[in-house]
Amino acid sequence: MPRIISPSMLSADFGNLARDTRMIDRSAAEWVHIDVMDGVFVPNISFGFPVMKAIRAATDKFMDVHLMIVEPERYVARFVEAGAQLVTIHAEAVADLRGALELIRSCGAMAGVSIKPATPVNVLSDVLDAADLVLVMSVEPGFGGQGFIEGSFDKVRELRHMIDERGLSTLIEIDGGINVRNAGEAFRAGCDVLVAGNAVFGAADPEAEIVRMLEA
Ligand code: DX5
Ligand code: ZN
Repeated sequence: MPRIISPSMLSADFGNLARDTRMIDRSAAEWVHIDVMDGVFVPNISFGFPVMKAIRAATDKFMDVHLMIVEPERYVARFVEAGAQLVTIHAEAVADLRGALELIRSCGAMAGVSIKPATPVNVLSDVLDAADLVLVMSVEPGFGGQGFIEGSFDKVRELRHMIDERGLSTLIEIDGGINVRNAGEAFRAGCDVLVAGNAVFGAADPEAEIVRMLEA
């Protein structure tokens, strides 16, 4: 199983965005996580294309874009143009989930689907083959720095079972409240990718913290 850390730029110092992005670029993190919020799907607004392009310009890391927006289909092509290599949409935000995932793939990116803490894994049962990645939210989407919701690893284990049973290679990512203390359990539960905002950017030595999480 691969082990990947995807630091969430939402927790970076926006006054020093290029510096923080270059720090991630030097680190052992293979991905960089971009949280886009519209103030409608979630009660917060983060950033959009200009900021994302600034991040893209400062790193060659794999760009993992998490869309917490309504009608994400309208913007998929523009996110791919801006450098997204994986576009993850919320299952709760679209009526035609398979269609939305197919649209992402047709734009040339990997297609991800995310579920909020209250959304059960079985809503993905019919679309799993159309997804390159499932993102399990382990906090309510909208803000960094929240506490991990207990029970989220049970959803990961259920999903891992479903993916393996069908012989699929869909990746599992977890997002929210992940740190060096629960990273080991996250990988053992079946996660391939851990998003970490506060745990990385709040650490005294972020690059060392990423290594500690990978080795947890
Ligand atoms: C929350 C975002 C997360 C957030 C994670 O809606 O999707 O990616 O930045 O932050 P931490 O790791 O601090 O919980
Ligand atoms: Zn996220």
